[in-house]
Amino acid sequence: MAKKSSAPTKTAQKSAPPSGKAKLADLTHVQVEGSAELSYNGKKIALPVMHGTAGQPALDIRPLLPQFGMMTYDPGFGSTANCRSAITFIDGDKGILRHRGYEIADLAERGDFMEVCYLLLHGELPTPIEKAEFEQMIIYHTMLHEQVYPMMEGYRRDAHPMAVMVGIVGGLSAFYHDSLDIADPEQRMLASHRLIAKMPTIAAMSHKYSIGQPYVYPQNHLRYAENFLQMTFSVPAEPYIVNPVLARALDRILILHADHEQNASTSTVRLAGSSGANTYACIAAGIATLWGPLHGGANEAVLQMLAEIGPKKNIPNVIKRAKDKNDDYRLMGFGHRVYKNYDPRAQVMKKTCEEVLKELGINDPMLETAMELERIALSDDYFVEKKLYPNVDFYSGIILRAMGFPTKMFTMLFAVARTAGWIAQWKEMIEDSEQRIGRPRQIYVGETSRKYVPLNQRGAGKLRAVR
Ligand code: ACO
Repeated sequence: MAKKSSAPTKTAQKSAPPSGKAKLADLTHVQVEGSAELSYNGKKIALPVMHGTAGQPALDIRPLLPQFGMMTYDPGFGSTANCRSAITFIDGDKGILRHRGYEIADLAERGDFMEVCYLLLHGELPTPIEKAEFEQMIIYHTMLHEQVYPMMEGYRRDAHPMAVMVGIVGGLSAFYHDSLDIADPEQRMLASHRLIAKMPTIAAMSHKYSIGQPYVYPQNHLRYAENFLQMTFSVPAEPYIVNPVLARALDRILILHADHEQNASTSTVRLAGSSGANTYACIAAGIATLWGPLHGGANEAVLQMLAEIGPKKNIPNVIKRAKDKNDDYRLMGFGHRVYKNYDPRAQVMKKTCEEVLKELGINDPMLETAMELERIALSDDYFVEKKLYPNVDFYSGIILRAMGFPTKMFTMLFAVARTAGWIAQWKEMIEDSEQRIGRPRQIYVGETSRKYVPLNQRGAGKLRAVR
């Protein structure tokens, strides 16, 4: 049971300050206050309680194994804080998402993606000069080494774009030997800028390759989202004029996906980075994790689900299936490990979806099905009791489809946006003096000690056909 300690409040050890100006909020804001006592088999231990600037406190269990001889068991890390972080705050019960203290809705409605990238990386919104410099820096790095193109051509044209992205991004470490030293802050920043800059180029290039069109190079006069649209949709045979409503919508989608604290892919990036792996390799690990249908692959899965549902009259049947304990079926784009309220990103996404469809004059029956599905689910006891609300992916697929992005590219777009968060979190981890190589423990349930049996004494067994 937790009890307040009479010991004076202690601030955790200060980590090395990041390069550049001093930041308002940093990792030193963790306070140690109070302790929780644990007793087992006559042994006792008092575990310190750590408090951040917001959110639930955490038990510092580091003394547990060395002093108490016991581990903790938490599959899926539902109750485990793996790091201290000053980047993103989520209160899932209240539906709050903030980056560096700023509400996600404010950033999405009033800011732009470059500004959010800067904020995640540096801790503050940029001044006009800082922003111009940052954008210039990113634009400068949008081109790919020409040798990357033959790499792309090694893939089958029908390869999933995420397979291509994992390979190419990991492969970038073979091109940029000047930014592999993670101990050097300048090299870290160079790799960060390169990755944010090159992700849309890689995404657009893999699309062009899959449809047999020539690659389109980035244009330095265009802004980030505009350039992405231009590289994805223009062809050399005719001029391409970027639609500002679509560029704004894409920029907003990028903001909404930029970071989401310690989710599966971000934790993977941190874990990979904890071994000292280079930035490109760590981001490739994040891309691989994001690919799964329970994470970034959900936006693709939502469209497949809506297509399968078809007309609204079929909705009660899928609701019934989603509620059936003996059926694995889930409503894609519904539910979240952290949000037990409406995902604040889904609200902005829904509004953006309506704006894009209006601009394009599209009357997509999928939007009607989605809205009806949401309405029915949110009035159903099963979803209400389990606090299952639409998440960020529920409406994003409809917008992206309307904009002309093929379904297979959806998760890749998520990866483009999330690169900003992955990098900010990776950089924070490298600069945190408390971080060690990630190494979870396990409860072993396998065979205990056995004697080795030579091959010729193991019985005949059964011969199985090799396929
Ligand atoms: N449809 C129907 N039932 C659901 C759904 C769903 N989408 N999501 C959760 N449940 C039910 C589960 O069956 C479980 O029921 P039970 O307690 O009776 O066994 C209960 O709600 C809790 O579900 P868990 O899987 O334990 O919740 P968890 O926090 O581990 O999973 C997850 C969260 C993976 C997002 C889950 O809600 C899900 O699979 N959703 C669909 C996929 C999806 O949209 N993923 C995108 C997440 S957002 C992102 O990554 C950007």
